[in-house]
Amino acid sequence: MSFATARASHPVRTWPGTGQTAPQRGRVTPVTSTPPAPDRAVGFGILATGGIANGFVRDLAHVPGARAVAVGSRSLDRARVFAAEHGVAAAYGSYEQVLADPAVDVVYVATPHSAHEDNVLAALAAGKAVLCEKPLALTARQAARMVDEARRRGLFLAEAMWMRCNPTLLRVVDGVRAGWVGEVRQVRADLGLAARSDPDSRWHDPALGASSLLDVGIYPLTLATWLLGEPEQVHGAAVLDERGVDDTAGLVLSYASGAVATLSCSQQSWSDSAATIAGSAGRIEIAPRMHHPPSVTWVSGAMDAPQVETFSEPVIGKGLAHEAIEVVRCLRAGQLESPLLPLAGTLLVARLLDRAREVCGVRLPGDDLA
Ligand SMILES: NC(=O)c1ccc[n+]([C@@H]2O[C@H](COP(=O)([O-])OP(=O)(O)OC[C@H]3O[C@@H](n4cnc5c(N)ncnc54)[C@H](OP(=O)(O)O)[C@@H]3O)[C@@H](O)[C@H]2O)c1
Repeated sequence: MSFATARASHPVRTWPGTGQTAPQRGRVTPVTSTPPAPDRAVGFGILATGGIANGFVRDLAHVPGARAVAVGSRSLDRARVFAAEHGVAAAYGSYEQVLADPAVDVVYVATPHSAHEDNVLAALAAGKAVLCEKPLALTARQAARMVDEARRRGLFLAEAMWMRCNPTLLRVVDGVRAGWVGEVRQVRADLGLAARSDPDSRWHDPALGASSLLDVGIYPLTLATWLLGEPEQVHGAAVLDERGVDDTAGLVLSYASGAVATLSCSQQSWSDSAATIAGSAGRIEIAPRMHHPPSVTWVSGAMDAPQVETFSEPVIGKGLAHEAIEVVRCLRAGQLESPLLPLAGTLLVARLLDRAREVCGVRLPGDDLA
């Protein structure tokens, strides 16, 4: 069955590109690498019309074999404006209508974090693959429920942690694994920005999941776990605003290997947003902004006569295109999880964010910290 035929046969769900019938409830789904039929673009349905939804769809235009086919908003007017600007075929005044659209193969969730769990579970219940903005969830328990549900239904799910698809950072991680800096002893990483001062924006509203740790701290934490795995201990401190939102936070993670990660984040500070990975044989300096760096410098050799090499890899669009390319690749290959965006990595970071918020005294409405 071709991809086109599969689409015509809704509601019997098939994997985009593979023609395989999607799994039923309760059945274990083997990951398959059946080659796709490349005769139709993978249709993305966009939930929300905010800042990152615009950025993502702009980048999606650079992704071969992918198209934004529908957008949903709480406001039909906003959906229409978004659709007109980006050339999206269908504009809906609700998210539910996107989920019901048979042209949508994968739902991209770009609502505030507080809505992610409901949106993702609804998309999975509608039989859609899901790419959800970071953080996947407010808490590790929420994230685990979402991952369990995707696995139970045999549907693709990934957190849109775009730095893990960044070609320059992928080369860095390969280099670290190949011993460029020897044994890693230190990771220092910062990400900060002076976010909007609008008190009603999601950055300041605890009900929408406002937290510098969840919003920007997740990137330094992802870098540290990507390189070093699970730490033994998490220490931290945060400055909370009058609504209890952590504007600025610092974390120290210690590892059984002897490595220490020193991480910081802020949504009120124009910080350097750089990162360094250092070990016995050298260091790697990741230029700002560390989650999509313009360049990286590898320093090695002798400390008094170092060899210095600076490099970067080409990036498509603003860099968000790479996660979309990976999602399209996975869907066409019939893969339920992305090796670049592994759910185990998402869950580990979610657990560490729980611990970080706990040690920093950061609470959100309805918290269910593990
Ligand atoms: N990957 C990245 O680099 C990156 C960058 C920024 C943000 N993000 C993540 O993406 C998500 C959205 O961030 P954003 O910066 O795009 O936020 P934003 O500009 O505030 O947009 C959020 C959108 O969500 C929808 N929404 C649904 N319920 C809402 C509510 N109760 N209050 C406000 N908006 C609501 C709105 O769209 P409608 O009114 O059209 O429904 C709104 O435009 C967050 O989880 C964030 O962490 C990722």
